[in-house]
Amino acid sequence: MTVFQPGEWVLLTTDKGKNWLVRLSPGESFSCHLGSISHDDIIGREEGHCWVTPKGVNVFLFRPAMKDLLFHLRRKTQIIYPKDAAMIICYGDIRPGLRVLESGLGSGALTLFLLSAIGPDGMLVSVEMRPEFADLAMDNVRRFLGNLPAQWSVVISDIENPGLKGPFDRIILDLPEPWKAASAASELLKPGGIIATLSPQITQVHAVVKELKRRGFRFLQTFEVLKRDWYIDERRTRPVDRMVAHTGFLTFGRKVILPGAQALQEDLEEENSF
Ligand SMILES: C[S@@+](CC[C@H](N)C(=O)[O-])C[C@H]1O[C@@H](n2cnc3c(N)ncnc32)[C@H](O)[C@@H]1O
Repeated sequence: MTVFQPGEWVLLTTDKGKNWLVRLSPGESFSCHLGSISHDDIIGREEGHCWVTPKGVNVFLFRPAMKDLLFHLRRKTQIIYPKDAAMIICYGDIRPGLRVLESGLGSGALTLFLLSAIGPDGMLVSVEMRPEFADLAMDNVRRFLGNLPAQWSVVISDIENPGLKGPFDRIILDLPEPWKAASAASELLKPGGIIATLSPQITQVHAVVKELKRRGFRFLQTFEVLKRDWYIDERRTRPVDRMVAHTGFLTFGRKVILPGAQALQEDLEEENSF
């Protein structure tokens, strides 16, 4: 099925990248400064169709990609950026069928990517301490996915003591104090499993890496993703003047099983090295 259906989301995009997200509803119309188009004129069209507005501007019709949805979420928290979500999926090795735990849920932006990556055979548990954010995130997921997926559950709790049963294959922490969740993460993550954390401040990274090492995580790596767009046209072949220069630092690590004596020795060395 390629043509647009009633109830679907459609992204209207100009050549210059300005876009609007619209849910198709028979009888309604969309208006902006460029003109107006009836939803009935979109329903039945193929994706990629071009609406030439009364002002002669080309507006193309697409199904929104996940990254397009992020900036249309209702949000009350900071949300994950596509560049960081992409790295979490890649370096966190989030694949179909995995059992994944995330905390906090926030506005549900990362949740959309995680649900897509684990597919219908995976399982995602999202732990959020503030019920109003959990409600908001569930509204966002329902609004864009059409329902609350069966493979997703939301737990209202402090991640430090979530009362959950593991093991999970992957744990993602997007929290102000992720080091406080290291103990629970260590208990809930299966050996060999991957943990990912996102923190805006390097002092947070220092604290979480220290705690993760103490809790049996190794192969820790921290990096940030700088995405710089470029103009490529007849006049310009240079970077765009502005960029989102900083979102957060990503840290990834693996839970390992250390031989008992070695674990004790490393604990002592850790204490002295930080
Ligand atoms: C930056 S937001 C998460 C954003 C989310 N990843 C997204 O993309 O929309 C951080 C969230 O962590 C929640 N939080 C903070 N401390 C927590 C804790 N100890 N346990 C559970 N949730 C917590 C906050 O209420 C907030 O909703």
